[in-house]
Amino acid sequence: MLTREENELLTRVGRGTPCGELLRRYWHPVAAAGELTEQQPIRPVKILGEELVVYCDKQGKYGLVGEHCPHRLASLAYGRVDDEGIRCPYHGWKYDSTGKCLEQPAEPAGSTFKDRIKHVAYPVETLGGLIFAYLGPEPKPLLPRWDVLVWENGKRWIVKESIIDCNWLQPMENSVDPAHLFWLHGDTAHLAPRVKKYAEQHEFILFEFGIKKRRTSLPVGTGDAPLLDEHPLLFPTTLRHVAPYEDGKGHRHNLQIRVPVDETHTQVFRVNFVPSDVEKSSAEAQVPFRYSQLKKGPRDYNMRMVSAQDSMAWETQGVVTDRTQERLGAGDEGIILFRKILKQQIEIVQNGLDPMGMIRDPEKNQIIELNVINERIGLYRPQSLRQDQRAIAS
Ligand code: FES
Ligand SMILES: [Fe+2]
Repeated sequence: MLTREENELLTRVGRGTPCGELLRRYWHPVAAAGELTEQQPIRPVKILGEELVVYCDKQGKYGLVGEHCPHRLASLAYGRVDDEGIRCPYHGWKYDSTGKCLEQPAEPAGSTFKDRIKHVAYPVETLGGLIFAYLGPEPKPLLPRWDVLVWENGKRWIVKESIIDCNWLQPMENSVDPAHLFWLHGDTAHLAPRVKKYAEQHEFILFEFGIKKRRTSLPVGTGDAPLLDEHPLLFPTTLRHVAPYEDGKGHRHNLQIRVPVDETHTQVFRVNFVPSDVEKSSAEAQVPFRYSQLKKGPRDYNMRMVSAQDSMAWETQGVVTDRTQERLGAGDEGIILFRKILKQQIEIVQNGLDPMGMIRDPEKNQIIELNVINERIGLYRPQSLRQDQRAIAS
């Protein structure tokens, strides 16, 4: 249970709020690169409560600027792009990706007014088919090169889910809540036959980038060996996961990135990667993407989809869960730990220091292998890691 003040501390995302300032220290995806096309090179996006537009100009350069034009606040979402930058649809003021005003067509020749205009603009970088933005102070950290974003031997694709009508912390608490797996998802696909055969133990292991959620499935009455799965929560907004692919013939690795849109909405991007000997993907190339609709209307969830089952649980907890009313038990250890880390990291930023997981050395960012395992679906620990994991566990 939290106090009302603690609940607000951990859920607010706006600029100037303690948690909003922490979240601004990390890169967040604002769109799939494939969403910006020649026909539609501009999209409005809201992130951390800020109304912005992401665009691709005619030279293929991406930009992210404030949605409302500094002249008289019309929306740049209806603007146009040319060789450099984005132009407002109302009176044609034009901005580059640093927020510099390049033209003001109605001002007299030689006017220096434009030099005194600085529009909101944030740096963007593309990786693994997503456009990531950084809304925090300089010097910005490196954009983490998570394995799923940069692996090449296999097939990569992106799913952008319909916006979830709840605060970002609910999906993230779910990422350290292994007890929900069989109850919420137990009737679906590969999980079903396992429901009655296993008891579970849960452990939460802090590591450089967040919390590893380890589940040991203990076969009941068969004498079979215990099976591990271990899925890291990458602080603060991402779950690294693996699931079976095509009836268990392969493994679908994925990142589930939960972007805080504002206090009451969350946008989930999923980046999937299936290893393959015949297919190749480049981290830089445009990656296929599709949209996924989690519900047909209010409270009308597609309960056959695992992701819709989760979003049902998160939304029905309340738009911002009232944590003054909850009753946490021993099975909620991961949630308690995540809240503790979140609070600590807020304080670290308030003290002017780098929070957890900041990468500033390019040598350490070639590729970040997360060594996800799930022995229940046949993805075993590499031999080299077995010793380490025993050491961590003991
Ligand atoms: S409102 Fe944008 S140019 Fe006038
Ligand atoms: Fe789930």
